[in-house]
Amino acid sequence: MTANVHALQSDITKLQVDAIVNAANSSLLGGGGVDGAIHRAAGPDLVHECRLLGGCRVGEAKFTKGYHLPAKYIIHTVGPVWRGGDNGEKNLLASCYRRSLEIAIEQGIQSIAFPCISTGIYGYPIELATKVAIETVFDFLSEHNTLREIVFCCFSERDLITYQKALNN
Ligand code: AR6
Repeated sequence: MTANVHALQSDITKLQVDAIVNAANSSLLGGGGVDGAIHRAAGPDLVHECRLLGGCRVGEAKFTKGYHLPAKYIIHTVGPVWRGGDNGEKNLLASCYRRSLEIAIEQGIQSIAFPCISTGIYGYPIELATKVAIETVFDFLSEHNTLREIVFCCFSERDLITYQKALNN
């Protein structure tokens, strides 16, 4: 199967996919940005399940149900805080995408939507993060063939334009 990889502008909590990815923090107990939006839309049962997970390391990912979301599942990953680029940020961000996709495959997920991990509160420059996201996803797809759809869900028009340019290169 060849996966359909595309970018769109949306609130990720509205997407009807098998799983959405959350740009969480290590506590997995909620926060601002997309994390806050996902917890609000999923409802309070989500934080109850998250409490049982024992947190999550940067570059790792964990899996929960989607509760009141249209998406059946949530894959929570913790992106790196941008500290200038010489502190392993690139490898950690790539690991977020790779680990999320590995978990998706283990769970039989076929469609998945990613937010622009680390590019909000964590300060990762959008152009650099976009390159890492796209390269990691295409590398992964070259070795796995069960995914049907990968969505890069951009919240702003500027992020969408960045993704569209990068995907067309
Ligand atoms: N749908 C899609 N994307 C969104 C939404 C939404 N509803 N809301 C925001 N974004 P951020 P980070 C975009 O800050 O940089 C939290 O407090 C946003 O415009 O959510 O990884 C966590 O608990 C940006 O493009 O995540 C952590 O403490 C992207 O999502 C910390 O923030 C990521 O921005 C994680 O920071």
